[in-house]
Amino acid sequence: MKSILENRPALAREVEKVAEIAGYLWQKGWAERNGGNITVNITDVIDEEIKAMPAISEVFPIGKAMPNLKGAYFFCKGTNKRMRDLARWPMENGSVIRITEDCEHYVIIADNPVKPTSELPAHLSMHNYMIEKGNGYKAAIHTHPIDLVAMSHNPKFLEKDVLTNLLWSMIPETRAFCPRGIGIIPYALPSSIELADATIKELSDYDVVLWEKHGVTAVGPDIFEAFDMIDVLSKSAQIYMTAKNMGFEPDGMSSKDMTELKEAFNLPK
Ligand code: 13P
Ligand code: ZN
Repeated sequence: MKSILENRPALAREVEKVAEIAGYLWQKGWAERNGGNITVNITDVIDEEIKAMPAISEVFPIGKAMPNLKGAYFFCKGTNKRMRDLARWPMENGSVIRITEDCEHYVIIADNPVKPTSELPAHLSMHNYMIEKGNGYKAAIHTHPIDLVAMSHNPKFLEKDVLTNLLWSMIPETRAFCPRGIGIIPYALPSSIELADATIKELSDYDVVLWEKHGVTAVGPDIFEAFDMIDVLSKSAQIYMTAKNMGFEPDGMSSKDMTELKEAFNLPK
């Protein structure tokens, strides 16, 4: 069977990037079984021939209207598919979908009828929001980092910006490379519309959000940028935990150091 990626280097590159990140998620221990999901808005690299391709699935409801996604295309991890398999065989463990004209449904168009992630309502809500904002962001990632999920089990860390300030103060890079911090989403049922709605509410302030007792979700211009923000936050969480394991509360950078960094790097918060 001919793959949609054949003779389409720009599209193939987008899928390759997803596969690369999927491998990192597995290596980091953030992706047990089918844990986590990735979607990328690939509409910009879709040609007329793809637009004419018929659906290879029934028409599925999204569960929510996505007014800005009319006719848009996404590469999505499949539901119940493993990240470690997505890394090696992206087109067997993910698929290309097209949003229908009514903005409330989607169809799968290639390569295989792999049903997209169960978190599609949250992912598409984030993409819909990013188009509304016009920020040029194309990627969304959800994963289960052990350290950050563990921290979400402590109510003290769930108060607004407590975790952001703590993680920022562990190492300068986290402040610089996750400059909007991490928002908190109270526990909600995985794959629910409630979780999707709560997530987009926080995106006006944050590019990364913590789903309480579940995982972390991030958006970015591409999948590398979205992954990197979670990676620097996780590094900070590890530094915090390591200090605690050595028996002391880490000092954290001083507020003077933090302000100096904000000015030097021209950071938004
Ligand atoms: P999917 O396999 O449906 O992508 O679900 C994984 C997950 O992490 C749900 O939150
Ligand atoms: Zn999850």
